[in-house]
Amino acid sequence: MGDPVTPLPAGLVGRLATARRVVALTGAGVSAESGVPTFREAQTGLWARFRPEELATPEAFAADPRTVWAWYEWRRDLVAAAAPNPGHHALAQFESLVPGFTLITQNVDGLHARAGSRRVIEFHGNLFTNRCFAGCGAEADVPRPCPEPPRCPHCGAWMRPGVVWFGEAIPIEALQAAKAAVDRCEMLLVIGTSALVTPAAGLALRAHEAGAMVAEINISPTGLDGVAQFRLAGPSGELLPRLVEAVRARREMHS
Ligand code: APR
Repeated sequence: MGDPVTPLPAGLVGRLATARRVVALTGAGVSAESGVPTFREAQTGLWARFRPEELATPEAFAADPRTVWAWYEWRRDLVAAAAPNPGHHALAQFESLVPGFTLITQNVDGLHARAGSRRVIEFHGNLFTNRCFAGCGAEADVPRPCPEPPRCPHCGAWMRPGVVWFGEAIPIEALQAAKAAVDRCEMLLVIGTSALVTPAAGLALRAHEAGAMVAEINISPTGLDGVAQFRLAGPSGELLPRLVEAVRARREMHS
């Protein structure tokens, strides 16, 4: 006998079956079943002695670009070897099932796009893009493996990963697109995020205050309990495919 199956609340399935504008906000928990470690679980191996907060900052890169770059190369290797899991694929299916579906992700691993999601707002950037650290604006594809941080082809400064570091602002176009989607949505699904880091975590409260129904999928409780009307406790790779199939069946019944 496997684990007891988390029931899908009828109210949630019913709402998703009729909603025209749905937003999903994902965090590292969605990629956990692809073997990509989440942010707040202990780092492993060579990087066990570091916390992400010590490496993912402009100051850390300025002080020691080679170490920070090597950490990102390790993460790129990890992600390149990973595959989207059923949770990523279910979210890609949601996009074709719900016309006004928008995916906002805090993840930089690119797994949503690899699973087929097209309308993805990468709130914290992407591991596989690189841009000039001096801010000359140059972006460059860096052939991998690239053990040493490359130089900017435009100004000669170090190139840095195209991700949002602690203390840095969310790219304005991503922030504006995310806020616009959240302000207009009828339903927000918050999946696999500890909801500790703003402004991403603030999007759930913003949706709730704009009158949207909020549902959370997580293996453990988070600070969103007061905001989410529904909480599905369990792994997103198991719950999301079941949710998509239930919504698809309900939509076909109505069509
Ligand atoms: N299914 C659903 N949820 C899961 C699963 C799973 N299989 N595995 C873990 N989780 C949940 C954890 O319970 C936790 O709430 O995913 C969440 C992961 O939280 P974090 O590691 O804090 O990752 P995240 O919320 O994405 O962090 C947000 O903080 O460190 C910065 O920029 C970084 O994007 C990151 C942001």
